[in-house]
Order: sequence, then structure tokens, then C-alpha cells
Amino acid sequence: MIRKLALTALTALALTAGGAQAAGEEGHVIDFDFPFEGPFGTYDRNQLQRGLQIYTEVCAACHGLKHVPFRTLGDEGGPALPEDQVRAYAANFEVYDSEIDDFRPAAATDHFPGSGLETAPDLSLMAKSRAGFHGPYGLGINQLFRGIGGPEYIASLLYGYTGEEKEEAGTVFYENTAFPGGWIAMAPPIYDEAVTFADGSPNDARALSKDVAAFLMWTAEPKMMARKQAGFTAVLFLTVLTVLLYLTNKRLWMQIKRETKAEAK
Ligand code: HEC
Repeated sequence: MIRKLALTALTALALTAGGAQAAGEEGHVIDFDFPFEGPFGTYDRNQLQRGLQIYTEVCAACHGLKHVPFRTLGDEGGPALPEDQVRAYAANFEVYDSEIDDFRPAAATDHFPGSGLETAPDLSLMAKSRAGFHGPYGLGINQLFRGIGGPEYIASLLYGYTGEEKEEAGTVFYENTAFPGGWIAMAPPIYDEAVTFADGSPNDARALSKDVAAFLMWTAEPKMMARKQAGFTAVLFLTVLTVLLYLTNKRLWMQIKRETKAEAK
């Protein structure tokens, strides 16, 4: 029995070690610190607003956010833009309205447009869809144990260009340390001072990559704050319930325990 157990443990170890090696081909993901990490982490409103600006000025040229309604930009716990700003922001985009059979400026109730460039994937859920890759065999356990997931991947991807490029079958590929396989067809979108902020926040390539990754985490999981709060309330409730049940149990059996003790004497 013991030998069997030891064998199983050894096999598991060997598997994990092999997995760790395979992870090398996956690309290198930097463990960025985000304010929304941990059980009490929350989105930083200013960071989300900066991320929205970067998305708008840089990424939106190719990528869409078709699952995100403009009105959510006003949500508490998100970028929390004032209502008039949400409306003004939406009006910058055009949407096709089948009722009037024409394009019109978007309203707050419309969604962001989809990707303008066919080969560029939609970014609405990217931070969630890439989260699971990190860890041996794509188990996603790095997210659990080391806090590395989708937003770290996106920030590392934007920050991970080496400057090398090559052309294959008419497409230019750029070397990237975070992208699985090492060569990506997206030209480096972020560089130092690619975007300037009204409040003078840092805008080096690293800061910009991080801010836009945080924003994309929000688009993928806009209700994270509410979910964490509900989880916290549930744990608190269960703790109180456990204590109460324990005390009730003691009290209910007190009489019987006393009697059995007396009989035993
Ligand atoms: C000039 C067009 C263009 C711009 C601007 C651009 N991208 Fe991309 N992006 C692409 C293309 C094309 C791909 C697909 C690349 C591939 O699969 O090799 C891509 C892929 C991606 C991916 C997916 C990588 C993966 O794991 O498959 C992410 C994430 C991404 N872009 C984020 C961004 C962000 C964030 C910005 C803005 C800071 C941005 N992109 C700006 C064209 C662009």
C-alpha cells in the first residue's frame, strides 16, 4: 500500500516537473501587481479610466469590445464615468440601426463595436479566456497559487516585444516573449508615451500595458467587486451559523450527557 502511494506521488511529481518545462514554450508572464487581486482587492477607478483612454486611442483601431454596453462605463465599481460623459463617449461611435436602415451615433444602451480588423480578436472577454493557460498543462493553477492570470498575460504581451521581426508568407510577425510560440502578428501597439493623461499619470510602456490590462479585466468581469462582497458576506454568515449550531448542539445534549454520566457512576 505504502509503495503504491509512493509510486503515485512520484508519478505526480514527474508529471508536474514535465509540465513546468512545457510551460517554457508558453511564453514568459510577468507577475504584475493589480489593485483588484486578493479577496479584498477592488478595481481602481482612475486606472480603469486610464485603461479606457488607452483602449480608445490605441487598441480600438483594430480590436472591438462587442459584449460591453457603453452604459456600464457609468457603473459603480467600474470606471464610474458621470452619465453625461458616458453619453458623449458613446456618441463618438456609429452603429447600424435596422429600424432606420442607416448608421447613427451610438447611444448609451448600445454596445461597443466589434473588431474593425478581421484578424484582431474581440477583447471583451480576453482577460478571462487567457487566464486558464498559465500553469502546467493549462491547468490555470498559477492563477490560484501565484496570482498570475489573464490581466498579467495581457500586460506581459504588450510589454514583451523584443523588437525583432520577420516576414512569413506575406505576414510580418513580431517576436514577443509572452506570446505562446514567440511570434505574434500584432505590431507593438504600446510604447513609451503612446498616450498622455490629463492628470499626468505615468505613461511609460510598462504603466500603459498594466492600465489597459486592468481595464480589460474589468470588461471581462465587471461584477468582480459584487462577487467578492457576496463571497465575504457568505463566509461571515456561515461562520456565525457554525458557532450558533455548535452552541445549540451543546445545549440540546447537555441534559442527556449529564444523565448518562450519572448512570455510569
Ligand atoms: C494594428 C492593429 C492592432 C492594434 C492597434 C492592436 N492590436 Fe492586438 N491584435 C492584433 C492582431 C492582428 C492580433 C492577432 C495576432 C495573432 O494572433 O498573431 C492581435 C491580438 C491581440 C491579443 C490576443 C493575443 C493572444 O493571446 O491570442 C491581445 C490580448 C491584444 N491583441 C491586445 C491588444 C491591446 C490591449 C491593444 C491596445 C493597447 C492592441 N491589441 C492593439 C492587432 C492589433
